[in-house]
Amino acid sequence: MILVTGGTGYIGAQVVLQLLGHGQTVVILDNLCNSSRTSLERIARLGGRRARFVLGDVRNRAQLDALFADFPITAVIHCAGLKAVGESVREPLRYYDSNVGGSITLCQAMAAAGVFTLIFSSSATVYGDSPRMPIDERCATGLPTNPYGFSKLMAENVMTSLAASDARWSVGLLRYFNPIGAHDSGELGEAPAQIPNNLLPYLLQVASGQRDVLHVYGNDYATVDGTGVRDYVHVMDLAEGHWLALQALMGGSGVQVWNLGTGQGYSVLQVVDAFTRTCGVSVPLVFEPRRAGDVAQCWADPDKARRELGWQARRTLDDMLRDAWRWECRLAAQHRPILYTPRITPVAVAQAASELAAV
Ligand SMILES: NC(=O)c1ccc[n+]([C@@H]2O[C@H](COP(=O)([O-])OP(=O)(O)OC[C@H]3O[C@@H](n4cnc5c(N)ncnc54)[C@H](O)[C@@H]3O)[C@@H](O)[C@H]2O)c1
Repeated sequence: MILVTGGTGYIGAQVVLQLLGHGQTVVILDNLCNSSRTSLERIARLGGRRARFVLGDVRNRAQLDALFADFPITAVIHCAGLKAVGESVREPLRYYDSNVGGSITLCQAMAAAGVFTLIFSSSATVYGDSPRMPIDERCATGLPTNPYGFSKLMAENVMTSLAASDARWSVGLLRYFNPIGAHDSGELGEAPAQIPNNLLPYLLQVASGQRDVLHVYGNDYATVDGTGVRDYVHVMDLAEGHWLALQALMGGSGVQVWNLGTGQGYSVLQVVDAFTRTCGVSVPLVFEPRRAGDVAQCWADPDKARRELGWQARRTLDDMLRDAWRWECRLAAQHRPILYTPRITPVAVAQAASELAAV
C-alpha cells in the first residue's frame, strides 16, 4: 500500500489516480487545509476504486505512527505542503513549519515504521535564478528567491542527509516545473481556495468571468516577447512520472533527482494566445511591473528522467489548456445556476457569490 500525503490536493489526487490505475492500494493523509473531500469522490469515480482516507497532519507524529500501524504501507509519496509564494513571504514560519517540519516528522515516523522508500514533491524553484538554461539536475541549487523555495530546498537537504546516513533509504526528489491542466475527463483539477498567484488558474478565472483582467507581471524581460517564460507540464504527465519514479526507487538506495518538465518554455503571451486559439475565449490583460522573486525564464532539461525512468511528457500545451478549461467550465457550472436564478433571495446570492470566490 502506498501512502500519498496531500492526496486530495491538485497534484496528489492525480498521483492517487495513477496508482489506482496500476492496481495499487492507496491511503491518503491530508489535513484538507487546501482541498476537500470532494476529491475523494472524483478519484473513486474516475479510478473505479476508492483510496482510503485519513484526515490528519504530517506534522502530527502520533497521527503518523497510528497510520503506519494501521496500514501496510511500503512507500510514501509526499505531496502535502503549502505552495503559495507570496504567502510564504508574509508567513515564513508557517511555511517552514509545514514544509520542513512536516517532512522531518514524516521521515521520523517512516523510519520508526521501517518504511524507507520516499518520493518528494519538490520544485524547480530550488534552482533559483539559474544562469544556465535549460536546467538539468547538475545545475546548482541554493539560492531560491522566496521562503517557499527555501522550504523545498531545506526539505530536500533533510532527505539527502538522511539517505547519506542510512543506506536503507531510497529517496526520489521530483523537481516539478510548472504543472497545469486537469484530468482529461475534465472531472478532476485544481480548485484554488485563494486568489491564485500562478498564471493558469488566474487566467482561467478571468476567462470564466470570475475576475476582470489578467495581470501580467513584467513585459521587459529578455525573453521572446518580454514576458516571463516557463516550462508548463500536464499534471497527468507529471503523475505518470511519480509511478515510474516509484518503480525505479523500489529496492534501491540513496537519493535520485529527476526534473519533470517538457523541455519547452512558453511566455505568458504565448500561453494567452494559445488559450484563445484553443478554447475560443479571449482574455483581457494588463501589464504590471515585475514581481519581486520572479525569474525571467525557466525550463527543464528532462533528459535524465527520459533515460532513467523512460518518462517523457506526452501532452502538448494545447492539451493542457483544453483540459484545464474543461475543468474550469465544470467548476463554474456548479455555481452559476444558483447565481443566475431569477427568484433567488439576496441571502442566497451572497452565499453563492462567496462560494464562487472560494472555488
Ligand atoms: N502546483 C505547483 O505548481 C507545484 C510546483 C512545484 C511543486 N509543487 C509541490 O507539489 C505539492 C503538491 O502541490 P499541489 O499543487 O497539489 O498543492 P495543493 O495545495 O493542491 O495540495 C497540497 C495538499 O496538501 C495538504 N496539506 C498541506 N499541508 C498539510 C499538512 N501539514 N498535513 C497534511 N496535509 C497537508 C493540502 O490540504 C492539500 O490537499 C506541494 O508540496 C507543492 O509544494 C507544486
